[in-house]
Amino acid sequence: SADAGAYLDIERGVIDRRIWKDEGLYQQELRRVFAPSWLFLAHESQLPKPGDFFTTYMGEDPVVVVRGKDRTVRAFLNTCRHRGMRLCRADAGTTRNFTCSYHGWGYDLSGNLVNVPNAEAYPDHFDTADWGLREVARVQNHRGLVFGTWNPEAPDLIEALGDMAWYMDAFLDRDPEGTEVVDGVTKWVLEGNWKLAAEQFASDWYHVNMAHASALMVMSPTGKGPKTEIANTPGRQFTSPLGHGAGFPVHPRSRFDDAAVHEHYDYDQLRERLGSARVEGPMTTGHATVFPNFSYLPVNGTIRVWHPKGPDRMEVWTWVLVDKNMPEEVKQAQRRYNLRTFGPSGIFEQDDGENWSEIQAVSRGFVSNRTPLNYQMGLGIHDDHDPDYPGRVGELYSDNAARGFYARWRDLMNTPAWHENHTTPEGDRD
Ligand code: FES
Repeated sequence: SADAGAYLDIERGVIDRRIWKDEGLYQQELRRVFAPSWLFLAHESQLPKPGDFFTTYMGEDPVVVVRGKDRTVRAFLNTCRHRGMRLCRADAGTTRNFTCSYHGWGYDLSGNLVNVPNAEAYPDHFDTADWGLREVARVQNHRGLVFGTWNPEAPDLIEALGDMAWYMDAFLDRDPEGTEVVDGVTKWVLEGNWKLAAEQFASDWYHVNMAHASALMVMSPTGKGPKTEIANTPGRQFTSPLGHGAGFPVHPRSRFDDAAVHEHYDYDQLRERLGSARVEGPMTTGHATVFPNFSYLPVNGTIRVWHPKGPDRMEVWTWVLVDKNMPEEVKQAQRRYNLRTFGPSGIFEQDDGENWSEIQAVSRGFVSNRTPLNYQMGLGIHDDHDPDYPGRVGELYSDNAARGFYARWRDLMNTPAWHENHTTPEGDRD
């Protein structure tokens, strides 16, 4: 294993871009960052009935998430135990069991092997109980968001979220009925390391005025352009020792008033429910990442996963999240607003993808990889006792949350994961 600390000097705010490029580091992060962390799997509204399933990835491991007959949501490695064929090949659906398309082994919704064609050809000691699907060790739900981890020793999800849950709830708990996703998943491929996107959503308001200048010009309610509305916007940025991050302007109401949801809300009621600090900050025009690779934007309603696909590439999976009891026309208006802004061809999304892909392309160079990058904005400026916002917070324009994200990444990269400490069949010792 490599010492990830050799690529980062968090205290000085300097980062070596090889962390986005190196194949060895990438394999190490699959083992030590993705395998032990809580990862977003699905929204519970995707799995309303027993037998409903959704296929996704944890790191590069394919998993199938399914609601069992007992209504419990479980997740399994999506591979047959016989020859390793991908077991469930549909994106989503409803089923009574999973039958492998290679030789026909069949598994029930709890992952038990229940059907083996030509079973009489196997020796007496062949026991189907030994050949069930590999189950994701822990699956938990935070306000509708289902997360899973392979790590049987992981702390509970709520503990792993820490103060981040308070910020997330500004988006997830606007309504007592909770949230749901509308109209499926949008997926696209970007040439760029997954951390470029996760880091930006954790920490980077700085790029908004420049990278999104033309989009802001188009959407400007005053027609005067972005500078008058966005530049030097006062706001706060939250950073967590657990690697999470969130940033948001603080203002009495979102300035992106064309989002349909704003017409729908009773802001006085929301202040009572969530407190004014959350309504004026993280509920509106913010950005956030739950470490390592789940991000969201409350005003656009996007929730998303940056699936790693090698060091150079990510697959972006996005959903539109709305309050369950919004009128149907508001839900659909929010879906369209989301597509216009942060869909695959959205006017903001295009700007971000271009930056990440270019950064990745530059990282191919020999000299580029030996030229460090600056993460010093807001270095040493933060407050652990903000009267309104929990955790460590600082100014909106800051790299604090990016440094926090990479500090957590470095610490996990340099810590043997649970599977490296045991010699069980699940030990996978390096
Ligand atoms: Fe699945 Fe053979 S690989 S039954």
